[in-house]
Amino acid sequence: MQKALWQKEYEERKDVPSSRTMFPSRALKEFWESTEIAGLNMESALDIGSGLGRNSIYMAQNGSSSVRGVEIVDSAIKRAQMSVEKLGLQDKITFTNQSVGNKLPFQDQSFDLILDMMVMHLLNPEERANYFAEIQRLLKPSGFFVFYTIAAESKVAKALFESNPGPEKNSYIIPQSGMTEKAFTDGELAKAFAQLKIIRLDHKIEFTPAFGDVYEREYISGVMKRN
Ligand SMILES: C[S@@+](CC[C@H](N)C(=O)[O-])C[C@H]1O[C@@H](n2cnc3c(N)ncnc32)[C@H](O)[C@@H]1O
Repeated sequence: MQKALWQKEYEERKDVPSSRTMFPSRALKEFWESTEIAGLNMESALDIGSGLGRNSIYMAQNGSSSVRGVEIVDSAIKRAQMSVEKLGLQDKITFTNQSVGNKLPFQDQSFDLILDMMVMHLLNPEERANYFAEIQRLLKPSGFFVFYTIAAESKVAKALFESNPGPEKNSYIIPQSGMTEKAFTDGELAKAFAQLKIIRLDHKIEFTPAFGDVYEREYISGVMKRN
């Protein structure tokens, strides 16, 4: 669990883009505006690692009547809650302060949409195994899982595995923050979410501003659906 590092990120460093902006993630917006969900209802949504609440707020403002955010850093939740109240969305959004590496306090098949914007690669193997099971347990039939994570099969990732190896295969430690990230292959994701149907796994190269510099990374922008 990397709670202390994320606490520091929100309280002191504010280096990664999600600590600085309240604009929703591009991958969420693209999904929301896509034909896949035209006419469908995204009534109930779960925001994994909800941070300062930007994506929970977007979903509540665009049709979801029940959004649940789960986040490990208490101070991030407090700030997200303030934004929610300012916008008068408190009847629609509730945050829970816990790790997504543990069993989540929701009933089976609770959500039309589960969103993970840049969180699954932060979990250790034990947390990840629980997380994979929980996503599949919590999704309603025909529900969508939309995520954005780090791709393992890129030149940049491979260089990082060599220069700053992390504790497991395809992982690295970011020198500036000490955070460990585990990158994924398409095959690993297909296996981990075997109960879901892959709609798309798009690979995107981005140049992300962080730590006073700009970093190249290859990401996987995924949409899966439960039958
Ligand atoms: C890169 S940020 C993204 C935040 C948010 N998804 C967004 O796009 O604005 C990753 C978030 O995951 C949270 N996080 C990390 N490990 C977690 C865990 N085990 N359980 C819940 N949240 C976690 C961090 O505190 C942080 O808020």
